[in-house]
Amino acid sequence: MEISVSILSIDYANIKQKLDQFSNCIHYLHLDVMDGNFVPNISFGPALIQSLRKESSLFFDTHLMIAHPEKFISTFVEAGSDCITFHYEATQDPLQLIQYIHSFHIKAGISINPDTPVDVLDLLLPYVDLVLIMSVHPGYGGQSFIPSAINKVQYLKRMKEEHGYSFLISIDGGINDQTLPLVSSYVDLAVSGSYIINAANPEEKLKLLMHK
Ligand code: DX5
Ligand code: ZN
Repeated sequence: MEISVSILSIDYANIKQKLDQFSNCIHYLHLDVMDGNFVPNISFGPALIQSLRKESSLFFDTHLMIAHPEKFISTFVEAGSDCITFHYEATQDPLQLIQYIHSFHIKAGISINPDTPVDVLDLLLPYVDLVLIMSVHPGYGGQSFIPSAINKVQYLKRMKEEHGYSFLISIDGGINDQTLPLVSSYVDLAVSGSYIINAANPEEKLKLLMHK
């Protein structure tokens, strides 16, 4: 299992200094894009990702919490995303969107909100590279983990084993040293934001999570 660090709660004026504190012990950076429409908050857009791309060779795990994600795929590809994850709830034709993302030769992920049942994804699982289970209602960092996510990642792991699928199972929201052990045997990639970013010593917290 690997950790993908969400920068949502970072001090954006000091982003480089902060990232330098722990970038050498991770491979994935989780980039939360919010539009104030699909979710009730606005974060950042492609300009920040493009600036970070010049400074970082980490895997850019872009999480689009936006309406009409299909309109912005090429923008976020050009900004430097290595994987783009969109929300099942935000699009009419998720399979077409997966194929469209693949046409840019990057990875395609799909995410579901806490209130969406996981089996809506069944027919998409052979095609997708990553499934992101939301363990908070998307929109804000620092929320509490919603336990119904545990059954969803268990289900996905079973589906992977039964069918030989290769997608990564990821979880996002409220992940810390107490909650990660609830899902660590089922997920490939755990997103953690405020627990790492707000710590005096992010590297120490990351090492703690990696051993859960
Ligand atoms: C929530 C975001 C998450 C969030 C994670 O809408 O998608 O990635 O930033 O932050 P924590 O770990 O603070 O819940
Ligand atoms: Zn996220």
